[in-house]
Amino acid sequence: MQFKNLSLAALAAALVLAQNDTSMMNLTALIAGNSNLTGLATLLSSYPDAAAGLANATNITLFAPNNQAVQAAQSVLGSAQGNVNDLVTALLSYHVLQGTVFAENITETPAFPSTTLNNTQYSNVTGGQVVEARLRDGNAQIISGLKQASNVTEANLAFSGGVVHVIDNILQIPGSFSSVAQNANLTALLGAVNTTNLTSTLDGASDITIFAPSNSAFQAIGSAAANLTAEQATAILTYHVINGTIAYSSSLSNASIPTLGGGNVTVTIDNGTVFINSARVVNPDILFAGGVIHIIDSVLNPMNNATGNDTQSEPATAFSGASSGTVVPFTSGVPTPTTTIVDLVTSTTQVAVSYTSVVPAGGSAAATGGVEGSSSSSAGAAMQTGAVGAAALFGGAALLANL
Ligand SMILES: *[C@@H]1O[C@H](CO)[C@@H](O)[C@H](O)[C@H]1NC(C)=O
Ligand SMILES: *[C@@H]1O[C@H](CO)[C@@H](O)[C@H](O)[C@H]1NC(C)=O
Ligand SMILES: *[C@@H]1O[C@H](CO)[C@@H](O)[C@H](O)[C@H]1NC(C)=O
Ligand SMILES: *[C@@H]1O[C@H](CO)[C@@H](O)[C@H](O)[C@H]1NC(C)=O
Ligand SMILES: *[C@@H]1O[C@H](CO)[C@@H](O)[C@H](O)[C@H]1NC(C)=O
Ligand SMILES: *[C@@H]1O[C@H](CO)[C@@H](O)[C@H](O)[C@H]1NC(C)=O
Ligand SMILES: *[C@@H]1O[C@H](CO)[C@@H](O)[C@H](O)[C@H]1NC(C)=O
Ligand SMILES: *[C@@H]1O[C@H](CO)[C@@H](O)[C@H](O)[C@H]1NC(C)=O
Ligand SMILES: *[C@@H]1O[C@H](CO)[C@@H](O)[C@H](O)[C@H]1NC(C)=O
Ligand SMILES: *[C@@H]1O[C@H](CO)[C@@H](O)[C@H](O)[C@H]1NC(C)=O
Ligand SMILES: *[C@@H]1O[C@H](CO)[C@@H](O)[C@H](O)[C@H]1NC(C)=O
Ligand SMILES: *[C@@H]1O[C@H](CO)[C@@H](O)[C@H](O)[C@H]1NC(C)=O
Repeated sequence: MQFKNLSLAALAAALVLAQNDTSMMNLTALIAGNSNLTGLATLLSSYPDAAAGLANATNITLFAPNNQAVQAAQSVLGSAQGNVNDLVTALLSYHVLQGTVFAENITETPAFPSTTLNNTQYSNVTGGQVVEARLRDGNAQIISGLKQASNVTEANLAFSGGVVHVIDNILQIPGSFSSVAQNANLTALLGAVNTTNLTSTLDGASDITIFAPSNSAFQAIGSAAANLTAEQATAILTYHVINGTIAYSSSLSNASIPTLGGGNVTVTIDNGTVFINSARVVNPDILFAGGVIHIIDSVLNPMNNATGNDTQSEPATAFSGASSGTVVPFTSGVPTPTTTIVDLVTSTTQVAVSYTSVVPAGGSAAATGGVEGSSSSSAGAAMQTGAVGAAALFGGAALLANL
């Protein structure tokens, strides 16, 4: 043994270091030793079946909700119907990435790493529902369902099976197309989808991208919308769906893409703005159970695939001769939401920022990564005090509403 060559002082120093170095601990010990994670520890011990998969997991990244975040979720779990253990299992799996992603791997360019949530009762995203990970004002942020933002408050806590990042808000599992569209105030689209009997198709779909016209986009073509036959309405709506591909903003590039309806749409990235034909993406990357929704400012027309450019200041209409209606079409009978998605991530300016640094398909950095680097709390992500208020409670409350 080498110990006889070590001075007592060096040995003592090594022991102190070892005490603070969590990298040899297992996950259970790491959580038990962090006073910000006592709520999570309690949750895990309350649902041992859900926690079982986590205890021995290796090569993972865990986004660990801090005490306030767990508390906000627990009141919701307390009133949950059905199999709460399944729900907790799904919720935990949505907090885990396969692979070890350190905070320095999260950059200004959004990435969409897959989580281990692949239970089709909660997600129909092949390979696991994703989260959006990005750096914002120097803080690592994890964006989940309904664009809820969770800030990383303690980064890069290494353990024997990977790394833990403490977050200040529970990650919200993205809901069905219907519930997300409702929350995003896409009520005209919802009504149009219902009249064409496409609701169950979209709610049960896997791996799709939906370009979702806003209510004002539908209103702008009110005169045309009123006169559509069922066949025309179906052709138009299916022209807004890409089947079999989830095109997150990070993988959008200039391309012509076939739609569910048959015709192609043209994606043009022009001076930081993304156009789908001549419609502008005004709110990208809204996750839902079957893929992703990008809100666009005008309705696409399969009979007119003219493309846009950055000289337009007004939404272009692909329906020539259409005039604006006095009411939003298709919304009769569709409940109006009282709140809509608080867009924490994107203002018009920030959409431009996120697209100017668009990476080619396959370039989402945080999605991959072996066990590398050492545990370092002086990582790129600045630490942040975890003040949590109404946002966390709203997120928790909306959690079940969206399942
Ligand atoms: C280890 O943690 C203790 C408190 O638990 C602290 O006093 C000490 O400075 C830390 N040592 C190192 C090397 O970080
Ligand atoms: C984790 O480590 C603790 C303390 O070293 C130990 O008691 C426990 O059995 C370990 N758990 C697992 C699942 O290995
Ligand atoms: C975790 O590992 C420990 C020791 O290796 C083993 O006793 C225990 O059954 C494992 N737990 C699970 C859930 O696989
Ligand atoms: C860890 O997981 C990542 C992502 O699945 C994989 O690419 C990598 O090879 C794994 N590393 C080890 C050491 O298992
Ligand atoms: C979900 O992931 C687990 C672990 O990677 C895997 O064993 C299982 O087959 C997957 N299930 C589905 C439905 O993909
Ligand atoms: C989370 O980080 C963002 C970006 O830095 C910041 O604007 C926001 O206030 C933070 N939220 C909380 C609850 O600290
Ligand atoms: C939708 O379904 C209803 C009831 O089955 C039917 O009356 C209607 O014609 C269908 N609409 C379309 C556009 O297929
Ligand atoms: C996944 O797809 C299946 C089959 O279409 C559907 O029954 C299920 O509700 C979908 N799951 C979610 C979470 O939307
Ligand atoms: C959805 O369409 C059905 C007919 O297929 C109709 O009975 C129902 O009222 C519609 N619901 C809404 C909210 O428009
Ligand atoms: C939803 O859209 C309607 C009409 O387009 C608008 O009047 C309403 O204010 C919006 N609701 C919310 C909560 O933003
Ligand atoms: C993660 O960050 C480390 C340290 O900056 C770097 O060496 C590594 O290449 C990064 N991994 C990925 C997958 O980006
Ligand atoms: C708890 O989190 C805060 C930041 O939110 C951090 O300053 C503090 O060091 C953490 N405590 C422990 C024991 O990790």
